[in-house]
Amino acid sequence: AGPDSPTPQHARGPAMTQAPLLRRITDYSSRADPYPLYEELRRTPVLHEEEGGPYVISSYYDIKGLLHDPRISSDAANATAADDEFSAPEATGLPPSFLRLDPPEHDRLRRIANSSFGPPHRPDRIDGLRGELGAIVCDLLDGLAGAERIDVVDQFAYPFPVTVICRLLGVPREEEPRFRAWVDPIVAGLDPGNRDDPGAPGPKAAQEARVQLGMYLAGLVEERTRDPRDDMLSDLVAGHGPDGAMSMMEVLSTAVLLLIAGHETTVNLITNGMLTLLRHPEYLERLRADPGLSVRIVEELLRYEPPVQLVPQRTCITDIELRGVTIPKGSRIWLVLAAGNRDPERFKDPDRFDPDREDIEHLGFGSGIHSCFGAPLARLEAQVALAELARRLDNPRLAEDPPPYRTNAVLRGPRHLTVDVDGVLP
Ligand code: HEM
Repeated sequence: AGPDSPTPQHARGPAMTQAPLLRRITDYSSRADPYPLYEELRRTPVLHEEEGGPYVISSYYDIKGLLHDPRISSDAANATAADDEFSAPEATGLPPSFLRLDPPEHDRLRRIANSSFGPPHRPDRIDGLRGELGAIVCDLLDGLAGAERIDVVDQFAYPFPVTVICRLLGVPREEEPRFRAWVDPIVAGLDPGNRDDPGAPGPKAAQEARVQLGMYLAGLVEERTRDPRDDMLSDLVAGHGPDGAMSMMEVLSTAVLLLIAGHETTVNLITNGMLTLLRHPEYLERLRADPGLSVRIVEELLRYEPPVQLVPQRTCITDIELRGVTIPKGSRIWLVLAAGNRDPERFKDPDRFDPDREDIEHLGFGSGIHSCFGAPLARLEAQVALAELARRLDNPRLAEDPPPYRTNAVLRGPRHLTVDVDGVLP
C-alpha cells in the first residue's frame, strides 16, 4: 500500500505518538477518532515532512482555495507513482473517468453525464426517486423483523446504495444479485487494509470482477443504444454536449465511476450518521418525531463526520506559494477535508454535533469543478435511510462503542455497527 503502509499499533510500541504526522494520517489505529490528529495538523497548515512526500493542507480556507485553483490538477496523467497507494485499485482498463481529468475533457464529460442525472436538466430523476428509495429501505428493514441485534453496515447500509444505483442505471431487477456479486469484490479492493486480510477478496478477485462487470455493462449499453428506456444508461448513450456524444468506452467508464464513487461513501454517511445519532439520542428522538429534520442532520453529518476524509489525488502543475511556503511544480497535495470541516477559524464550536447551526457550508462533497456529482442523490439516500432507521428501530442501543473501523485513510466509516434493539417496528 505504498510508503504509508500501516503498521499495527501493537507492533509499533510506545513510540507511536512520536511518529511524523504524515504517517499518523494512515495509522489506522486512530480511525475511531482522528480529530485530535487533525487539530495537530492544522497547527502546520502546509505540512511537508518527507522528501518526495505530499504537502498536506488542513485549514478550511486553504483547502477551499486549492479546490478552486486551476494550477492544481486532478488528471491521472499528472500523478506520480507514489499516488498508486490510492489510485491503483481503481485501475479499470477503461479511459480515465472525469474524476481524474482536467478541463476541457472533465467539463465535456461531466456536462453530458449531468444531462442524464440531475438538476438542472433532470430534477425529476433524483427527486422522483424518493418513493422508490423509501420502498428499498422498507424492504431492507422488513427483512430484519424479529431481530434483537443488527449490524447496520452489513444488513442495511451496505446493500442499499448498490440497489439504488442499479435501479437508476437501469439494471434489470432479476440481474441485481449478479451485479452485486461483482461490485462487492471491487469495492473491497478499494480498501487498502483489506489487502492484508487473507479472508478478504484480493486484487485478483477485484480485477476479475471488474472485467465481468465491464462486459456486462457493455452488453447493457448496446441494448440501450438499440432500445432506449427511461434510465440513466439510455440517457448517457443518447446524451449530447456541444461537442457531441460520449464514446462507448466513456459511457462505460462513467457508469463505473457512478457505481464506485457513490458506494462506500454513502454506506459510510449512513453508518456514521446512525452512530452519531446513537451518541446524541436527543437528535434521534427529534428525528423520530420530525423526519424533516433529516435534511439538517445529514448536512451537519457531512461536516462533522465526512465519509471522504481526504482528497489525495491532486498535483501542482506549477510552483505555488501558500502561507509563505513554495510548493514546487509536480508536488502531490493532500487536502484533508475532515480537518477543514472542524477548523475553528471557519466554524463556531466545531467539535460539537449541532444540526441546528445556521451555517453549514462544509467540505464533505469537496468544492469547485470536481465537487460531488452525486450529492443530490447521496443527500436523499441518507435522509430517507436515517429517518426510517429512527422511526423503525425500537429502543436502539450501541453494542460496541467505538465500533471497529475500516482500515482506509480516505474513506472513513465503521466496518460493523452492532446495535441491540427491542424489535424492528412495522
Ligand atoms: C466527487 C464525496 C456520493 C459521484 C466527489 C468528491 C467528494 C465526494 C469529496 C470530490 C473529489 C475530488 O475533488 O477529487 C461524496 C460523498 C458521498 C458521495 C461524501 C456520499 C455521502 C456520491 C454518489 C455519486 C457520486 C452517490 C454517484 C452516484 C461522484 C462523482 C464525482 C464525485 C462522479 C466526480 C466529480 C468530478 O470529478 O467532477 N464526491 N460523494 N458521489 N462524486 Fe461523490
